[in-house]
Amino acid sequence: MKTSRAALVLTLLFGCGTAPTPVPAPPAPPTTTTATASAAAPPTASAAPTPPPVVLAPGFPAGWPYPADAAPATGQHGMVVTDAALATKVGLEMLKAGGNAVDAAVATAFALAVVYPGAGNLGGGGFMVARVDGAPHSLDFRETAPSKAGHDTFAAKPTGKPDDKGGTARLGHLASGVPGSVAGLWEAHQKLGSKKKTWAEVLAPAIKLASEGFIVDAEFTASIGQNAERLSKYPASAKLFLPDGKPVATGSTWKNAELAVVLKRIADKGPKGFYEGPTADLLAAEMKSGGGLITKPDLARYKAKWRAPIEFSYRGNKVVSMPPPSSGGVTLAMISQILEGYDLPKESFHSPAELHYIFEAMRRAFIARNEKLGDPDFVKNPVEELLSPAWATAQRATIKDDKATPTVELQPVAKDSGGAGPHTTNFSVVDEQGNAVALTTTINWFYGSGVTVAGAGFLLNNEMDDFATVPGKANGYGLVQGEPNAVAPNKRMLSSMSPSIVVGKDGHVSLVLGAAGGPTIITAVFLELAGVLDHGLSLMAATNAPRFHEQGQPDVVTIEKDGLTDVQRKSLEAMGYTFKERGHIADAPSIGWANGLWAGAAEPRRNGGLALGY
Ligand code: DON
Repeated sequence: MKTSRAALVLTLLFGCGTAPTPVPAPPAPPTTTTATASAAAPPTASAAPTPPPVVLAPGFPAGWPYPADAAPATGQHGMVVTDAALATKVGLEMLKAGGNAVDAAVATAFALAVVYPGAGNLGGGGFMVARVDGAPHSLDFRETAPSKAGHDTFAAKPTGKPDDKGGTARLGHLASGVPGSVAGLWEAHQKLGSKKKTWAEVLAPAIKLASEGFIVDAEFTASIGQNAERLSKYPASAKLFLPDGKPVATGSTWKNAELAVVLKRIADKGPKGFYEGPTADLLAAEMKSGGGLITKPDLARYKAKWRAPIEFSYRGNKVVSMPPPSSGGVTLAMISQILEGYDLPKESFHSPAELHYIFEAMRRAFIARNEKLGDPDFVKNPVEELLSPAWATAQRATIKDDKATPTVELQPVAKDSGGAGPHTTNFSVVDEQGNAVALTTTINWFYGSGVTVAGAGFLLNNEMDDFATVPGKANGYGLVQGEPNAVAPNKRMLSSMSPSIVVGKDGHVSLVLGAAGGPTIITAVFLELAGVLDHGLSLMAATNAPRFHEQGQPDVVTIEKDGLTDVQRKSLEAMGYTFKERGHIADAPSIGWANGLWAGAAEPRRNGGLALGY
């Protein structure tokens, strides 16, 4: 491997990555620190002692808006990081009241369903990776195709080009899979909760937020405004989010009484409060009125599933991530294992040489993902083969040291692949016992299908577009996927969600990661992980660093605006890369363990996120 130390060298002083050796927690009294998404908090009294200088080159270009030396939130006992401040507070209170990380995660997820309705949900699904008492777990509560959906449900109906907002798999009733969130959160609490907090107790904060309301911030109003067209098409959505035809006003108190009733039913009856009885009646009626396919038997049949997590090693650390039907863990492992064959730690952070290998690894991993993965209950996923050293070696053999490989040389390229952006939400929770939860949940696009269930106050997902609705044709994220991910009745659509936990060489959880952003989830999680494990970056620096995304098709690397210097860009263009700029890539809040403290990094690319430790 050639070492290209680029001319631009930026030396920055900041906290080194996760502690390689265990350091006992200091005996100081508990402190609460926060880091908001939009501002770097000043260093706190409990911050680690000044570390040695770390050389970054040229990873943080001049003028890059998110500083490498931002201070994280810290806490001796626990930490919660989410995309919505009110939900973070709910999680933290649950930890302080004696709940474990899983109790807090379940409470947080229900709170997100109220205060962050664009992505938090009852009408969607997700994945959880947890480490409890040292044991890894992964829980699949992905939506399923309705039993009346099939391979050709969308073949004759327009599904839209990538980036199109419309299409039957993206907007309206046909776009929704059977929701999994309530079943998943119930399973998580039943199996891994502390048993000190009842189901009703973990739902109580969300019920209070929905019934008493909360003060709307500018972010909430803006996100509704950006999606007003989608929401205005459906009367129950318009009534809830666009009162008087305008987005809910900043500073007003927003209540969702219908959602409060549904949450109360779930608190009283468990999953039956959602999948049966009045909530199921309302959902099925909504489907019927709008030409959707989900029926009451579909709801009654839904089951969340525990699956064996994907586990792999990266630079001597153990990574635990999500198996199919999410592609997240397998694809993360493929990228990592290809790159373990290169001495990236010797490279300057984000040098053109390093980025070249990273892009090529991403390209090859995505080609395999798109062709080979699907719901494991329906298709055989060649996971063993894809995670074998032989597979990684074979991929490396096709990578040239100084040249990009056009995707067409590895796979035929579909003409219309493109790519779209957010939204979903990932959050992380850790507790005093060292337990950790990474949970990603979504209704796919921001505000999902646009359809709110009349009388029930929650939005439905547009997850059907994650299937290869027409195999070989790009979906809304530009992913060109194959038959293994074709639609079938009761099948789960392939996901990119990548909740992940890294266990350091000392056996302690060292990173808790995950992201929103469709396929960019996988690459954003990888880049954070590599920032810390390859280059010793602090959690904040790894979170704040520029992100890049390569998914094979379209054959273009997506980069964040100003994320590359001219020197980096020109060197990479000379190797054959072309770039497409995007305002920002993914939302990836994270937690790390460093110097005996939990550190929390809210996502600086969006407003409203919050990390809180205690
Ligand atoms: O499961 C998936 O891969 C997508 N439905 C995730 C959607 C997402 O992250 C949207 N963007 N932020």
